[in-house]
Amino acid sequence: MTDAQGRIIDYMRISITDRCNLRCKYCMPDDLPSVCHHSILRYEEILRICAAAVGLGIRNFRVTGGEPLVRRGFLDFLTKLKQLPGAESVSITTNGVLLEPYLDDLAAMGLDGINISLDTLNPQTYRELTGTDALDAVLSSIHKAVVANLRVKLNCVPLLGINDRELPEIAALAQTLPVDVRFIELMPTEAGRPFRPVPGERVRNILRERYPDLRPVTEWRGSGPARYEQSDSLLGRIGYIDALTGHFCRACNRIRLTGEGFLKLCLYHDAGISLRELVRSGATVEELQQVMAAAIESKPEHHYFGDAGMQGGIGNMSRIGG
Ligand code: 5AD
Ligand code: SF4
Repeated sequence: MTDAQGRIIDYMRISITDRCNLRCKYCMPDDLPSVCHHSILRYEEILRICAAAVGLGIRNFRVTGGEPLVRRGFLDFLTKLKQLPGAESVSITTNGVLLEPYLDDLAAMGLDGINISLDTLNPQTYRELTGTDALDAVLSSIHKAVVANLRVKLNCVPLLGINDRELPEIAALAQTLPVDVRFIELMPTEAGRPFRPVPGERVRNILRERYPDLRPVTEWRGSGPARYEQSDSLLGRIGYIDALTGHFCRACNRIRLTGEGFLKLCLYHDAGISLRELVRSGATVEELQQVMAAAIESKPEHHYFGDAGMQGGIGNMSRIGG
């Protein structure tokens, strides 16, 4: 469907849990309490909301967390979502730690893509940043996902003084593997604020020293916030999500559903509506559609990251799923 700004909204990100097996320092503080299970939507409830979304033209879904793989039954849920009449694509965003044993099943159910978070190739930095010694497991998952013919994108958040010296090495994964490597500007969430972002423009300059022929991908298909570049030396593309310095709200195509059933209209904005009571009171798909359509119509024009006076509606990314 189209919102009041004329933007086509065809993509929904669904957080199925706020829980995570890692504690990435910029994402999820150690002492963050988990949402109680009763408050989290059941899979059937999420699927009913998705059925309503499909009717509104929202046909592409990304399942996130927290870490989606820590929620029991996720594979069955993804399979049902993929089989939902009218659903076009279903992908997931994961930290990759628990991924390997599920790869064959994910490929078999027709998963359209996996985004895997990878901020460092240094085992010690990985341990310090995430609280877990799991770099090898993630790298192994990445390789095996490629072998399983799954479409893989890697997400790296450049952090000054932590991984900024490794960025060319991380980008070089696209040289040996057919994966897109994307650099995401750190967003000033509660947990993110103590860290210093590296602006996308600076990352581009760093990478151009190693791959001088990096140039924007011209045959651009897709509508997310990432802008891609290609080099003849690389099998995959390099992507930039300039969450802070980029101005992509004009082309925004997405809404978000939190684990608690809040339909969030913009990542950095309070605007939205809880669908939980509605879906739990037995609302029909048509009733859900009406409420969702009215909310989406009023999607905010743009975010307020850059505006010091506006707090915005962002707590931590683990509750929203990126
Ligand atoms: N800024 C940018 N990206 C973030 N993520 C988590 N917190 C932030 C933040 N403050 C990213 C993770 C993961 C994705 C789901 O969100 O690195 O790749
Ligand atoms: Fe869209 Fe909101 Fe993200 Fe802007 S901040 S691109 S309006 S979701």
